Amino acid sequence: MKDILTAPFVKEMCDTTANMYRLGWDERNGGNISYLLDENEVAEYLDLNNVIRTIPLAGVNEGDFDVSALFGKIFIVTGTGKYFKNVAGDPETNLGIIRIAKNGVELLWGYNDGGRPTSELPSHFMCHIARLKQDSEHRVVMHSHPTHTLAMNYVHELDEKKFTHTLWEMCTECIVVFPDGIGILPWMLCGTNEIGEATAKKMKDFRLVIWAMHGIYGAGKTMDETFGLIETVEKAAQIYMLTSHLPRINTIKDEDMLKLVELFGVKCRKDFLD
Ligand code: 13P
Ligand code: ZN
Repeated sequence: MKDILTAPFVKEMCDTTANMYRLGWDERNGGNISYLLDENEVAEYLDLNNVIRTIPLAGVNEGDFDVSALFGKIFIVTGTGKYFKNVAGDPETNLGIIRIAKNGVELLWGYNDGGRPTSELPSHFMCHIARLKQDSEHRVVMHSHPTHTLAMNYVHELDEKKFTHTLWEMCTECIVVFPDGIGILPWMLCGTNEIGEATAKKMKDFRLVIWAMHGIYGAGKTMDETFGLIETVEKAAQIYMLTSHLPRINTIKDEDMLKLVELFGVKCRKDFLD
């Protein structure tokens, strides 16, 4: 059996959480990541018959929710209350590898201080179910509190079309990176089934969903793709926050955006253009 600390998926979780912390997106225990793993790959590192403990799905503020679509699937997930800045130094305490079962989640590795998965597990699992229906290669759900994206929530209309369009105008690459735009939920109580259901509903159409005055969710096939989505939104939001109080003299026009869409062969939300 290989050493789990050398597993590429553990390294990816360590590197990504460290980067998110370094960028100031994830203060204290802010943010969470869940990553759907390949069972055969995990079996190279762990005895899949060795369940350390079973953790009920119902968390601090939670009732049960339906995860039958994910039965048997294995995820690596950040722990609730754990600080992203500490993950790389102590993955076994701050991360867990869990398998979805009928009576909860089976802990195969990690959370070794008695911890449990993120309080946002309902949103993560519901988003995985929604995204897997759209794309069988989907793997990662990432939640974060990026500074400028959050700042923009307070000063920009929280309308999906207007918010997306403003971001598309802020950097040339935006419409190519997230041509499907950004879904937006109003402020809602986090950690609940309700916000999970609402986020998953948005994830039918969007890979990015803003939780107003809280943060953002991203979904993708790989850790890099998902991180890159949030990173690009955050960069655009930073440009907006640096310029929105100044007279705008130049902008990227819709006709330019259409040229980009055509050149890169992506399908954009045409109804989000003016
Ligand atoms: P957890 O510590 O439970 O992952 O929660 C952090 C967070 O960002 C809540 O939205
Ligand atoms: Zn949060």
